[in-house]
Amino acid sequence: MKKILLSLFVTTSLFLNLRADEGMWIPMLLQNNEQEMQEMGMNISVEDIYSINNSSMKDAVVLFGGGCTGEIVSDKGLLFTNHHCGFDWIQYHSTVEHDYLTNGFWAMSFEEELPCPGLTAVMLKKMEDVTARVLEGVDERNMSAEERSEIVKNNIKKIKEEAEANTDYEVEIKSFYHGNQYYMIYNEVFKDVRMVGTPPSNIGKFGGDTDNWVWPRHTGDFSIFRIYVSPDGKAVEYSEDNMPYKPNYHFPISLKGVEEGDFTFVFGYPARTNEYLPSVAVDQEANVIYPVSVDLRGKILDIYNKYQEKDPKVRIQYASKHAGLGNGWKKWMGVTEGINNFKGVEKKHAFDKQFTKWAYQSRARGAYLELIKEFEKLYAEYEPYRLATTYLSETALQIEVLTFAANFNRLSKVTKDTPQEEIDKLVANAKEAAKVFFKDYHQPIDEEVAAMVLQEYINNQPADFRPELLNTIVEKYDNVQAYVDELFAKTMFASEENVNKFLDEFKPSKAKKLAKDPALMAYNNVMDFYFDNVRNKSVELNGQIAELQRVFMRGQMEFHAEQNPDKMMYPDANFTLRVTYGKVGGFSPRDAVRYKHFTTLDGIMQKENPDIYDYVVTDRLRELYENKDYGRYADKDGSMHVAFIAGNHTTGGNSGSPILNADGHLLGLNFDRTWEGTMSDLIYDPSICKNISVDVRYVLFIIDKYAGATRLIEEMTIVE
Ligand code: ARG
Ligand code: GLU
Repeated sequence: MKKILLSLFVTTSLFLNLRADEGMWIPMLLQNNEQEMQEMGMNISVEDIYSINNSSMKDAVVLFGGGCTGEIVSDKGLLFTNHHCGFDWIQYHSTVEHDYLTNGFWAMSFEEELPCPGLTAVMLKKMEDVTARVLEGVDERNMSAEERSEIVKNNIKKIKEEAEANTDYEVEIKSFYHGNQYYMIYNEVFKDVRMVGTPPSNIGKFGGDTDNWVWPRHTGDFSIFRIYVSPDGKAVEYSEDNMPYKPNYHFPISLKGVEEGDFTFVFGYPARTNEYLPSVAVDQEANVIYPVSVDLRGKILDIYNKYQEKDPKVRIQYASKHAGLGNGWKKWMGVTEGINNFKGVEKKHAFDKQFTKWAYQSRARGAYLELIKEFEKLYAEYEPYRLATTYLSETALQIEVLTFAANFNRLSKVTKDTPQEEIDKLVANAKEAAKVFFKDYHQPIDEEVAAMVLQEYINNQPADFRPELLNTIVEKYDNVQAYVDELFAKTMFASEENVNKFLDEFKPSKAKKLAKDPALMAYNNVMDFYFDNVRNKSVELNGQIAELQRVFMRGQMEFHAEQNPDKMMYPDANFTLRVTYGKVGGFSPRDAVRYKHFTTLDGIMQKENPDIYDYVVTDRLRELYENKDYGRYADKDGSMHVAFIAGNHTTGGNSGSPILNADGHLLGLNFDRTWEGTMSDLIYDPSICKNISVDVRYVLFIIDKYAGATRLIEEMTIVE
């Protein structure tokens, strides 16, 4: 009896009841969701959100910088995204003299807006289902996986080339449902995107990594950019003659705020989720791989912290590296804890069994009978290779001097026959790499990290997975520290002066010496080992797993269609534009604790601590707070709302996404999830999985009242 109940429960939680808040939907297919969205409170139609014939909201959402989302908020191409999405560019433009990270930056005219070479904003123009064409010639039953994938690859190439010949847009073909469906996407790629404004870090990153992934939250996580195009409206590279872009649509901004139960939706670019894995995969991810990364990164971050606290210059230099490592570190901790608290592996396991049982009920389901068993076998085989890759990337490749040296590999292979022109180019590239590298390099950190990570690498990888370098260290040196001391004493790559001198005097006869540099040798040693002993096998196993997953996905879709015919299944995130919707509301993370759905400026003052970097409050903000000088941006309760949570199914890449109200007006910018719910990339539980957004009224308050950049407010369409 117990067993039956359990399996019923699993079916319910994972499939039958796909709750409104779960799901990342393809905008082009949103008709299927329209009724539900309207029942939940939406006042507009899905045609307003996505239309190919008329201007619609999709014309105001972009993939920002390849990893985040941005939204257009004026008819002059003004773009909102998160502070942490603009972070690298804020850092890029910052120096000790012009420290925009610390002090913020506000362009008070178009002329002051700062070009960001390499930054792009990608806008989806249209998409179409090309599944039938991609799968043309595929015979599901009588074909090997290799044959199948060869056909698919060739079809994709052909379809893409054909499309490209007939359009100025960039074309991509993406797999959905793990290779069961394909869509072709046409994108406009804007290449002149300029930095317009950013609050100081103690607003834009208030709470820092301490509060990251955590509710309640008080981060003003926004920054402002602008798209520029050529005078005739083309998406071109930066030029002085370029003009602000005139979009087909921009989001009106609501000053009404949110209340518990309000309908919201989020429109953006979620990167990757894996909601349809077998239990063995979830277990491996949450209980084997993540804990290793978490442990190693935690130790590196301790070292960063120690030096960053001592020296303001180092604090800036390592800000971005720290944020990058720290983000995954904390998230994965949350995933493991969430999966275990939620009994996620057990629930997946019960489903695996139920699925297999279902497969045995009909002859037509032969392809699914052994799936779970095969997954178990393959994942077991894959595990040591995954660990080897994880160790490599979280240890040796965290030694900065090694990865920097890698930039010189080609130069080290130059001979007297290499054309001078090519040498000049290699030298120029290396010089550029050196400039970027040394701007943010602090050797004492690197030395300490190197000793720590190499020791971990040695301690934790079995003989078969140890690059020669590790054995050399063990056999030839008294200890790891002795090796590290020698490495840094002998390599030229830790000294900007030596590197530049070497490059200035470079001639082919010096290539040999370069190849013998211990940092370059160490790098090549670990990478060669990886390519010879880890990579090929990993790719092979990964390919086999992907093939199983494709079949498993198809099986789950059939299973689901039978059990619950009028509910759709959404495809895993794959960095394509999606819509997710859910209601505003607090939640209960654990016994006796209830979270409210919004935070206010009072909370910032409660957290304030001038001695802790993450919790410093500027005099200007305190003054506005004390005078309650919030203007029209105050909530009707009189306070200044800062952030709120809602039940939207988001993931990495949704940062900066617009969160919109029932009328499609901008309420805020998505920037995070609650820690308790980070497992939602693997299993979604609506009771604890919430997305965190900064309230757009706080954004405008900072722009207008705090910074006085009123010219930007004047461009926007504001709904009082
Ligand atoms: N956790 C958010 C995301 O995944 C924000 C990361 C940046 N913020 C930070 N404090 N590191 O991107
Ligand atoms: N901060 C994440 C990002 O950069 C979004 C939060 C999430 O993972 O949900 O995309």
